[in-house]
Amino acid sequence: MSSAKLDMEKLVALCRRRGFIFQSSEIYGGINGFWDYGPMGVELKKNIKDVWWNDMVRNPPPGPDGQEITMVGVDCSLIMNPRVWEASGHVGGFSDPMIDCKTEGCKGRFRADQLKSTPCPLKPSKCAGEFEKCQLTEPRVFNLMFKTYVGALEDASAVAYLRPETAQGIFANFKNVSDSSRVKLPFGIAQIGKAFRNEINPRNYTFRSREFEQMEIEFFCHPDESMKWYQYWRDVRKNWYSTLGLNSDRVLPREQGKEELAHYSIGTTDIEYMFPFSDEPQELEGVAHRGAYDLTQHMTHSGKDLAYFDELAWQKADKSVYGGDKKKEQAAKQSPPYKFVPHVIEPSAGADRFTLAVLCEAYHEDKVADASGKQEERVVMRFHPRLAPVKAAIFPLVNKDGMPEIAERLYRELKRDFNVQYDDGGAIGRRYRRQDEIGTPYCITIDGDTVCGGSVTIRDRDTLEQRRVQLSDVVGEIRKMVK
Ligand code: GAP
Repeated sequence: MSSAKLDMEKLVALCRRRGFIFQSSEIYGGINGFWDYGPMGVELKKNIKDVWWNDMVRNPPPGPDGQEITMVGVDCSLIMNPRVWEASGHVGGFSDPMIDCKTEGCKGRFRADQLKSTPCPLKPSKCAGEFEKCQLTEPRVFNLMFKTYVGALEDASAVAYLRPETAQGIFANFKNVSDSSRVKLPFGIAQIGKAFRNEINPRNYTFRSREFEQMEIEFFCHPDESMKWYQYWRDVRKNWYSTLGLNSDRVLPREQGKEELAHYSIGTTDIEYMFPFSDEPQELEGVAHRGAYDLTQHMTHSGKDLAYFDELAWQKADKSVYGGDKKKEQAAKQSPPYKFVPHVIEPSAGADRFTLAVLCEAYHEDKVADASGKQEERVVMRFHPRLAPVKAAIFPLVNKDGMPEIAERLYRELKRDFNVQYDDGGAIGRRYRRQDEIGTPYCITIDGDTVCGGSVTIRDRDTLEQRRVQLSDVVGEIRKMVK
């Protein structure tokens, strides 16, 4: 984002014009809280998810003592046994207080805790409840879970829910994963996937949607080490955003106050971002110390033993203290410090929220010289090269003299490794503008010197610098620059 506050309407217009984000079912008037990603948006969001998976699951940064971190992944179903949501507390408590406005022509529905920041539908210069015509009801509790029915009968026994978070699939599979992967504490299980919440007031573009994607880690550790891991994940997750181009001044970790904490949470840090649509930083991700709450809940509700047995500690233990009494030995084996319910640190990020932050941060307007040297305005999306939907564009300067053939060969070669575009339409300046608007970091031009001397120009989207590179080095150069 430029230093001046970004006008969200401009960003929304660009996202629609260039195929990043569309309103869902737009031709039917849309549906509030649901969004579709177009050809550019799907690449951007896929890159975000791939980079998260690569940086957090395949190659997480070394642990607090320099140790290697063990991480594995899962991909769980969207609909689970409804008892999962009773155990997790979602059926009983996943709700927001809702207020209706009875005024004719308004009939607005608001979250009670957001009245002061929600514009009145009849008089948007005021907030809900502030206009003299407002007739607000008392707050009512509204459960955010989407209900459905599984099977042919639509009765109470068939009720199921679309998952409101990916986390519970991880907890429900804790034993399956630890038994099948032979992972030892501490270790993390990660999941990327859709979640659904019937938000009372979806708003701020994709920021609060009813269908969205999460990127969640449940990191299981020994209770005595949990604070160390909580701090580790807080730092790792905060820093990650800056490595991908978010200005670190705008990424603000905020430790929740005691009064805000969920009853089971020992500590939670919200990693917030200064989105241009708000004067207050807004949550990108929550990093929560959840203690033993979730596994204990699932043990109680399922009747299954999800405690962790520390085989290594047991092997090392001095068993002579039990004096050969097998019963005592067995009892010791089933108790701490050998058997215990692990604590959990949960970094829970939103793929769509981060995509929106990346779009806001990337949007810039500046001026560049056209072919005649005259300054012209451009919109440029300054995506980090790892996230850019298109990594490079290949232009033959003219559609003759052997240039298209070389350009097409290069395009086909690059296409094997990267998402690239071939563009031979119009003046070079116009082709640059098109790529700038979708944030392509490198534009490669095939010109007379390519035909004669075998070199191409690579133009950098941000510095506008153009440098000559041998054709045979282009793939390696692009690889180096986007990794
Ligand atoms: N398992 C913990 C959990 O779900 P959360 O704070 O409710 O915690 C985690 O959600 C993240 O999911 C948020 O930080 C946000 O990035 C994303 N998220 C939550 N609700 C969302 C919504 N309605 N629209 C878009 N993203 C949402």
